Amino acid sequence: YYQLTVFGDPIAHSRSPQIHSAFAQQWQASMVDPQVGIHYTRTLASRGEFPELLNAFRALGGMGANVTVPLKELAWELATTRSPQAELAGAVNTLVRTEQGWHGENTDGIGLYVDLCDLHVALKDADILLVGAGGAARGVIPALLAAEPRTLVIANRTLERAKRLADVWQSERANPRQIPVSASSFSDLAQNETPWAVIINATSSGLQGERPPLPNAILQHRPFCYDMVYGAAPTPFLQWASEQQCPIADGLGMLVGQAAESFYLWTGFRPDRATVLHDLRASIR
Ligand code: ATR
Repeated sequence: YYQLTVFGDPIAHSRSPQIHSAFAQQWQASMVDPQVGIHYTRTLASRGEFPELLNAFRALGGMGANVTVPLKELAWELATTRSPQAELAGAVNTLVRTEQGWHGENTDGIGLYVDLCDLHVALKDADILLVGAGGAARGVIPALLAAEPRTLVIANRTLERAKRLADVWQSERANPRQIPVSASSFSDLAQNETPWAVIINATSSGLQGERPPLPNAILQHRPFCYDMVYGAAPTPFLQWASEQQCPIADGLGMLVGQAAESFYLWTGFRPDRATVLHDLRASIR
């Protein structure tokens, strides 16, 4: 059995055990003689407790872990080796046991990317508006740039933070194709005539039942609007976009997408996301 867990705080409501159990069932069904399975638990860990709890998990045979809020940056520091995507994202959401320690990966960006592909949202040559400049936004930028958009604009309530994040992507190493990445305040978007194809809300506003105060003008060309937050009802950001006749999606597909990529890294098996997303959607209603 693969010993797996998800570390975070809070963690009680994490959907990861449910998702990975469903993947494991598919994995076993794909084998003639299933000799393997997973045991996936939740581990509540504050920042202070995390290093020690991670060591304890390893000592008990832990093979891999997911890491969620507020531990992704700390997991980046604790990883012995890191994938290029995790390196650039500055955050790790997946740890894979190696002989030397833990290999850190970030599958959030891939999760968003595959979900947008499933939703038939084209990113290549698109003008993308990323709203938010915290860890969630930073984590998906490598994958967004890998999809070769025309431009990426990062808008944030605190403009300074968006500027600092945009600066990270100016170097040739971080952005080999030199895709234009810039920062904007919310209010300046009203004068920005870019025909946005995709707007991604990476702020935590939806968790507080709020929406970022974005100008209506950005919805003029009916962009696809995505919120990384998910729930039984659309977030205020998605409600607003939907009222202006924009296509919308919440982040449940991204959650399943990042989990599928983590599962693949641990087991080498690529699960089918669609059935799992369908069942998960039904269970959160
Ligand atoms: P996360 O890891 O979820 O990204 P974070 O690093 O604390 O968490 O970042 C939260 C993001 O959501 C930030 O971009 C924050 O904007 P500020 O940088 O201006 O604080 C944004 N955010 C949170 N609540 C918001 C709200 N009600 N309206 C707009 N933006 C909000």
